[in-house]
Amino acid sequence: MTHQIKSLDEYKAAYQRSVDDPEAFWAEQAETFHWRKKWDKVLDWNFSEPNVNWFVNGKLNITENCLDRHLETRGDQVAILFEPNDPDADNITYTYKELHAEVCKVANAMKANGIEKGDRVCFYMPMVPELAIGVLACARIGAVHSVVFAGFSAQALADRIKDASCKAVICSDYNVRGAKNIPVKKVVDEALKMDTDSIELVLVHKNTGGDVDMSDSRAKWWHEEVDGQSTECEAEEMDSEDMLFILYTSGSTGKPKGVVHTCGGYMVYTAYSFKNVFQYEEGDIYWCTADIGWITGHSYIVYGPLLSGATTVMFEGVPTYPDAGRFWQVCEKLKVNQFYTAPTAIRALMAQGDQYVDKYDLSSIKVMGSVGEPINEEAWEWYYEKIGKKKAPIVDTWWQTETGGIMIGGLGEHSPMKPAHAGYPLPGIQPCLMDADGNELEGNDVEGLLCVKYPWPSILRTTYGDHERCRQTYFSAFKDLYFTGDGARRDKDGMYRIIGRVDDVINVSGHRMGTAEVENAINEHELVVESAVVGYPHDIKGQGIYAYIITAHPVDDEEAFRKELINVVKEEIGPIAKPDKIQIVSGLPKTRSGKIMRRILRKVASGDTSNLGDTSTLLNPGVVDEIKDNALVK
Ligand code: WTA
Repeated sequence: MTHQIKSLDEYKAAYQRSVDDPEAFWAEQAETFHWRKKWDKVLDWNFSEPNVNWFVNGKLNITENCLDRHLETRGDQVAILFEPNDPDADNITYTYKELHAEVCKVANAMKANGIEKGDRVCFYMPMVPELAIGVLACARIGAVHSVVFAGFSAQALADRIKDASCKAVICSDYNVRGAKNIPVKKVVDEALKMDTDSIELVLVHKNTGGDVDMSDSRAKWWHEEVDGQSTECEAEEMDSEDMLFILYTSGSTGKPKGVVHTCGGYMVYTAYSFKNVFQYEEGDIYWCTADIGWITGHSYIVYGPLLSGATTVMFEGVPTYPDAGRFWQVCEKLKVNQFYTAPTAIRALMAQGDQYVDKYDLSSIKVMGSVGEPINEEAWEWYYEKIGKKKAPIVDTWWQTETGGIMIGGLGEHSPMKPAHAGYPLPGIQPCLMDADGNELEGNDVEGLLCVKYPWPSILRTTYGDHERCRQTYFSAFKDLYFTGDGARRDKDGMYRIIGRVDDVINVSGHRMGTAEVENAINEHELVVESAVVGYPHDIKGQGIYAYIITAHPVDDEEAFRKELINVVKEEIGPIAKPDKIQIVSGLPKTRSGKIMRRILRKVASGDTSNLGDTSTLLNPGVVDEIKDNALVK
């Protein structure tokens, strides 16, 4: 097991060592895992190409570390504790032994269907244990998983299948969330009509048992393929730097890119950060409410916890069904010790009133996490007082799909806390703040662009099929630094406070989205000539989506037009990207070189039109007044 830090002094010592001798530090962590063959060299890197290799020539299989390694010591301990959507339904559990057997069966079924090492397998599934099992089965045979959040549209799914030329897609028949029954397989069927010819297998897990069309010759039932398989499957030997998974995420421009993580470094870092941030102790019940469709679910529902021999809860439902007490009811029922969620959920539940919290016994909670977006002070205080009863520390964890694991955040009760501050970097992480001219801001009480100076084991290796895009996006802004896209402040105590994105990425309910992506979707509507999308402060979601639209001709029924636009966005991306506000404008403020002045649009959308700066150099200054006068602000 990786080392667990047990005091602030120990943290300081570990941090110092990780900076003084990173290779020795990480080698020591890596030693605690099972390797088929040890590495020749700990690290080989440059940030200019970039080319980062951890545990060079090491051979391993991550599932041997998630599963086989635990069989002797904790085979009968619960690995996955599944809480279904229906609060009256029984929990479903998989012990480490059962999970191992199930993963092997699915791995064998995949092999029997021609899936081989290196093949890409897309998952489009709700939060059921079979999703975690399927993902691990891929890793077992060396196939690369690409999980697509099941809230994305058929178009978005097809784009991701095509980008990675996936050989198989694994889905459910339906998905139950709250009172809704969502036809998942139907979305896959639509995606299969969109030039997704690389798909040779559609494996359908029967979740609700509703009607589905299985007429496509590629479609097979999960249970028919899996049930008769052997419960043993020899794990494929993987190189440290073989691909483990692809996960698509949004950036400033273009379509979402496939962030690539590899086996060795990702394993070492997710386990190390999990154990230390959440201070997980033997026998604890750990619950992360994220979806496995996002990086948080990959690293801190599946890999980090299972590598650490934890009991990890998977929740199928939503926080507000049957009522806003659902999270707390589950915490009481399962005696959850570590609880990890997003600020947007905290704010939504806080708004429903304390009566949903007060009736539950939350005394089992030892550590509470926050992730995905900045947590505002009011939400932080409520979380700390009402849920943690001022006893459980909050770890505000800053990280990204690209970083693979938590970069800045507290280590359970061992770190000082400050509301809305992520705090100190984890051992091995060397953040720095830069000004726009490329100078490092030294010392404390400074604000700038957040970068990282030195590789950590779970840094992204490339963006799938387009290495130049990876270099351009993350390694070209500042020489020899990884650029995060976030702005941050280092306060007088050296604690980091994340301010938010400095690029055209917005964060809506903790979901990351590119404004260009939403604009491209909106522009699909035949009446739209041009559009500009910005984020604005939203009480619950953190940021809402505000769209400015130029139409080809005046629209008679604006309400109907708005609905159509929302539908287009739902079809192109999914409901999470639908604009909250749509303003029809006659023009967009542009510079003389034709660039949209988003700064002005962001200010108007936030309801602050007081100081828009100098607009006289705009191509069309007159449009600013029109936009201001018709702004959709409360
Ligand atoms: C934001 C989610 C403030 C940030 C794990 C980052 C945060 C983006 C925090 C990555 C936090 C994440 N405080 N902001 N604790 N955690 N962010 O890739 O802007 O979905 O760049 O990864 O979320 O989002 P992603």
